[in-house]
Amino acid sequence: LMLLVEQVDPFSLVADELSLVTNRLRSMVVAKVPKLASAAEYFFKIGVEGKRFRPTVLLLMATALDVPIPTSAPQVEVDSLSSDLRTRQQSIAEITEMIHVASLLHDDVLDDADTRRGIGSLNFVMGPKIAVLAGDFLLSRACVALASLKNTEVVSLLATVVEHLVTGETMQMSTSSDERCSIEYYMQKTYYKTVSLISNSCKSIALLAGHTAEVSKLAFDYGKNLGLAFQLIDDVLDFTGTSATLGKGSLSDIRHATSLALSTHFCCGFHSMGIVTAPILYAMEEFPQLCTLVDRGFDDPVNVEIALDYLGKSRGIQRTRELASKHSSLGSAAIDSFPESSDEEVQRSRRALVELTHRVITRTK
Ligand code: FPP
Ligand code: FPP
Ligand code: MG
Ligand code: MG
Repeated sequence: LMLLVEQVDPFSLVADELSLVTNRLRSMVVAKVPKLASAAEYFFKIGVEGKRFRPTVLLLMATALDVPIPTSAPQVEVDSLSSDLRTRQQSIAEITEMIHVASLLHDDVLDDADTRRGIGSLNFVMGPKIAVLAGDFLLSRACVALASLKNTEVVSLLATVVEHLVTGETMQMSTSSDERCSIEYYMQKTYYKTVSLISNSCKSIALLAGHTAEVSKLAFDYGKNLGLAFQLIDDVLDFTGTSATLGKGSLSDIRHATSLALSTHFCCGFHSMGIVTAPILYAMEEFPQLCTLVDRGFDDPVNVEIALDYLGKSRGIQRTRELASKHSSLGSAAIDSFPESSDEEVQRSRRALVELTHRVITRTK
């Protein structure tokens, strides 16, 4: 009977607290000037809040690390003005989501995107200038919230995340042929652009609780490996996700989907600006000719066809999945190395975090 471990749904575990965080976010993004106010609140309205993965992970992390701290470890300074630990950790979730949305607003300007979260992008609806300003505004509100935590290490970590976002975006924008064809460059760019935020905010959750550098590193490692696995599967799904035989990687289907996609001006697996992801980069190791093809760009549908042909003959999709699995395992191993706890809630949250590492690699959309 003891073998029956309660099934946990990571999202329902934190649902109530997440709506508290969501409501607080709405009040944090209110601006004085009406035009700025409506721009800044745009993606915090009911129905367009997004998946809120990051706050979900962070709240689970807070509970997973809710264990007594050994006395040899540096204790958090108890500031009479600062609120209790859980509120401070919720604040990290809010700050993280504000930084995330700010980066999406700027990203949509840079990408000239028309849509986001199923509605018109802010730049499309209100224009790029106000979208840039709304992003800056969210970022500044995030900074104020961060400062009020009065933890300079956490301030430094999240400020560095913003630097990483900008660095990753720039790396993607301007690359030489050698860089474009390098899996190492690609992984570095991915870390900066999409992983640094979740890994460093996970670490911040641990630091606020007063955990040691070792435990904080484990929290960081969890976020990093979860994020990398997530992005790698995203890359795979770009190729297999639109096909009828979802995830099976049947190449005729991929090709079919692509021809269809091309006719509707959407290019499966290949980003419009010639951004190449892990499956193609692995395929390149078997077929170096692909690098020349990538340099020519994918404006010509014939090049897409040839590239997909090489991809199908290669182990690109498989190797990308294997790398994602490796990161997923590393993520769950980090949780297993957390300090022992027999607390039921702590254990439940840890199981939920491990469950997320599984879901990330088995998802089909
Ligand atoms: C937009 O974010 C998509 C990306 C930034 C690319 C892939 C995302 C990750 C690597 C995030 C990994 C993080 C975790 C916690 C697994 P989004 O899909 O989160 O957008 P949304 O806020 O609109 O849902
Ligand atoms: C989504 O990528 C974009 C990001 C994950 C980060 C973008 C970062 C910046 C624009 C730097 C500025 C940052 C701040 C905080 C002001 P994508 O275009 O590949 O994915 P999409 O499909 O979600 O658009
Ligand atoms: Mg974009
Ligand atoms: Mg972009």
